[in-house]
Amino acid sequence: MRKTTRLALITTTAIAALTLAACSGGANTGNSSDAPAEEVEPTTMKLALNQTEEHPSFIALEAFGERLTEATDGRWNIEVHPNSTLGDQAEYIQSVSSGVIDLAIVSAPQLENVSKDFVIFSLPTVFDSIDHQMAVLSDDEVVGDLYTSLEDSNSITVVGGFTQGARSVYVKDGAAETPDDLAGKKIRVQESPVFISMINALGASPTPMAFAEVYTGLQSGVIDGAENNEISYFTQKHFEVAPFFSYTRHLIGADFLISNTGTLDKMSEEDRAAFDAAWEETWQQHTDLWTTETEEAIAGAEAGGATFTEVDSDAFVEALEPLLDEFITEDSQQTLFDAIRGAAK
Ligand code: GCU
Repeated sequence: MRKTTRLALITTTAIAALTLAACSGGANTGNSSDAPAEEVEPTTMKLALNQTEEHPSFIALEAFGERLTEATDGRWNIEVHPNSTLGDQAEYIQSVSSGVIDLAIVSAPQLENVSKDFVIFSLPTVFDSIDHQMAVLSDDEVVGDLYTSLEDSNSITVVGGFTQGARSVYVKDGAAETPDDLAGKKIRVQESPVFISMINALGASPTPMAFAEVYTGLQSGVIDGAENNEISYFTQKHFEVAPFFSYTRHLIGADFLISNTGTLDKMSEEDRAAFDAAWEETWQQHTDLWTTETEEAIAGAEAGGATFTEVDSDAFVEALEPLLDEFITEDSQQTLFDAIRGAAK
């Protein structure tokens, strides 16, 4: 369900479009399909991202903008702001909700803080592979209702998902080969209950922190390690200060593209269809890039002195099994979990 436009959510560019429509006597917001294209003020949506320009998400999202501009003859455009220049992901949720930013990429645990159903995407063993994950994250039958469930309450529409690949632990001083090796270590986590419980279950000490602060946290010794995929490990340069990466592969993480609902509601049906089609190509490009960029990240980090160690990842996954009972407490969560598992090959 789409919300009706609220003045508070109108972005600066959209206000310009409104003014133009009012001056020309139009009753619409400047983007309805029966308005002649030349009367429509182009809208440029701000997209917030906490990754660098080398990350597959930035590359795919830049291409998303180009696809959208072309498909809408320049009526809708995207300006990607990488490197956390528009804040951290907790702030993105607020800014997208209020319409200060139109679009953002946020990690599943950030949405878990808004709605408990999103916790399912951060549980160990929920996804068998990246292909399983992406099939589910783009399946309207499984996620359609969930993606629109924050529209009335938060003015946030979830457009779709990107994979984060498998997440693993890395530390400053010697590879962790079993959960026991992490005992007492301060490990940075994303700011969410499930990630805090996860690190506790491994016997380590969770330290919630924004992504952009992790490098200095490691460098200064505020934390002893963190957990992430190889690409973020490399592009954020964490390997320079925590060179021991252990393949714990404790879960396959998910990112989501979220949009201000009011912004999407201003698109004509035709432009919204173009937006959705451009997004579909974008997540597929991102998934393809993931494999090649992961290999490059490993090579780059190794060249910079990092070591990647294969460990008994089953021991880590087993230690995390109790999280399923701890975090699946509601029927809606169980239904989502079952639907995801049902889609596993
Ligand atoms: C990954 C993910 C980000 C997230 C980050 C983190 O890099 O793609 O969305 O913010 O992990 O650990 O905070």
